[in-house]
Amino acid sequence: MCGIVGYIGNKKATPILINGLLSLEYRGYDSAGIAVLENNKIVVMKDKGRVNNLNNIDGINNLNGTIGIAHTRWATHGKPSKENSHPHLDNSNSFAVVHNGIIENYNELRNFLTEKGYTFISQTDTEVIPNLIHYYYKNGIKDENVFLRAVKSAVDDLKGSYAIEVISPLFPNRVIVVRKDSPLVIGKGENENYIASDIPAILSHTKNFYLLDDNEYAEIYTDHINFYDSSLVSHSKAVKNIEWDASAAEKDGFEDYMLKEIFEQPNSIRETIGSRLKLNELCSFDDLDLSKEYLQSINKIYIVACGTAMHAGLAGKNAIEKLCRIPVTVDIASEFRYRDPIIDDKTLCIYISQSGETADTIAALKLAKTKGAKTLAVSNVIGSSITREANYTIYTHAGPEIAVASTKAYTSQVVLLVILAIYFAEILNSTPANLLNDLKADILDLPVKIETILDQLEPIKDFAKKVYTQKDMFFLGRGTDYNVALEGSLKLKEISYIHSEAYSAGELKHGPIALIENGITVVSILTDPSLVEKSISNIQEVITRGAKTLVITNQNLTNKHFDFVINIPNTNPLISPILSVVPLQLLAYYISKNKGLDVDKPRNLAKSVTVE
Ligand code: F6R
Repeated sequence: MCGIVGYIGNKKATPILINGLLSLEYRGYDSAGIAVLENNKIVVMKDKGRVNNLNNIDGINNLNGTIGIAHTRWATHGKPSKENSHPHLDNSNSFAVVHNGIIENYNELRNFLTEKGYTFISQTDTEVIPNLIHYYYKNGIKDENVFLRAVKSAVDDLKGSYAIEVISPLFPNRVIVVRKDSPLVIGKGENENYIASDIPAILSHTKNFYLLDDNEYAEIYTDHINFYDSSLVSHSKAVKNIEWDASAAEKDGFEDYMLKEIFEQPNSIRETIGSRLKLNELCSFDDLDLSKEYLQSINKIYIVACGTAMHAGLAGKNAIEKLCRIPVTVDIASEFRYRDPIIDDKTLCIYISQSGETADTIAALKLAKTKGAKTLAVSNVIGSSITREANYTIYTHAGPEIAVASTKAYTSQVVLLVILAIYFAEILNSTPANLLNDLKADILDLPVKIETILDQLEPIKDFAKKVYTQKDMFFLGRGTDYNVALEGSLKLKEISYIHSEAYSAGELKHGPIALIENGITVVSILTDPSLVEKSISNIQEVITRGAKTLVITNQNLTNKHFDFVINIPNTNPLISPILSVVPLQLLAYYISKNKGLDVDKPRNLAKSVTVE
């Protein structure tokens, strides 16, 4: 998805912009570009393809300008091409704009501007913005604030979502930014300021950030920043200290971000647990104060999310239903928002989003709010859009997740949801304290147990080598193991491009077993003692039809004729996904590596899906 970087200060802007874009590569993109103010002109250099291609553009290294904006584009309107890449200029080359999001009424605005004599070079929705700014500038009173007013008038015409940066040689001492439903942060330096769509892009320069709100403008100078609301009334804004370590956003010696993030899971889970859960103490959330009366009044919970976050929601459902006896429905956000769900003030809606910027999840949250439900966001990104919309937010604290395929965010989401379920159960008194305490002990043991799985990579690497040429694979499980099968299958598809399906093992004979043929690989997860025997019978059914089987289990299974077995430590079934998913993440990773693919940036995918 698109990324934004900006700089204003006394240093050469170009290397700062390009390095910022490089650290945003994980968002997924197809073209990149920069605009720098140089000798009272805007110089734009852009092209389709990788950010590093910018370094080959003639003259880019000779740019000395100290104010600039930059962008990585993930095509929505118009194919990936140089013309469609950002930054975009108005017809008089007076305003350069980069934009994340989508302008829904761009056709209407394009027609309006065309009538006024403006022409367009690209097929993008964005190109209307610099031209609208020019239109309002030309027709505005030429005082010190005309630039800001022109940007505001243009923005007032836009329908959709946007994070926008604008520079102009007519006002060569400032960058103007504004956002709505698309993230934008400003990093405060000493006599310099940085701008980015994501904190990691500028984390190596500063830890002090202003998190721009929806419909808020900032006029950014070298030594100060003015903030304005949507009517251009100025206000002060508190700076936020973000304690992420810059090195946490780098690879730390691992070959890929994904592998680094898989190995970070013992620590990210420790961070998620934090001081919220301790043995023999009640769970507590600093960031949550739900009363017993309110929790008793809830008759239904929805957990809404997309992709991997939705799979974490399935584990959350199991925990909440088991420990609190409140019915939970898990919904895909893009379905939930259009299916007219039954919601009222007795409904609690939980939204899970690593990025906190997923358009469908945010829209689904807004819907529940309009129907009177309380909303609770589970997110990894501080100050992200979803956290501003929700009544309550609890953070996973998993640290930045850079690889497109989600790994540590998933395990932290599951841990956090289970802690939330315990917290609810303690308030509601719905599960005996000794059982909750046993579960707490199991949660506290998770990091060490994951470390033991990470110590045994060889069998997984061997299996990956044997199966990476396969065209199709199947993942089976029952109960919570089925939820993990879904996640294992998604991980495999997205980074190895192998077609895979996940089925509930008991459902196999109702149709999917017709697909099983000689030599096909079936991965089964067997961790829930109450379901193991039944699952084994289902696996025997595929073995007799010629399948090669990999079994991931915490049970002592001997003489079952499985081709490969990966043993994982035992734990409470409510949290077993956190352990059983790790070999599946590694399997997908090594299969992708064997195929020589770009693990961190799989084709067609974006880290943060900010369009519907
Ligand atoms: C899969 C993956 C996606 C995301 C989904 C939701 O590895 O990363 O399926 O889980 O796009 O993203 P967030 O959690 O940012 O809302």
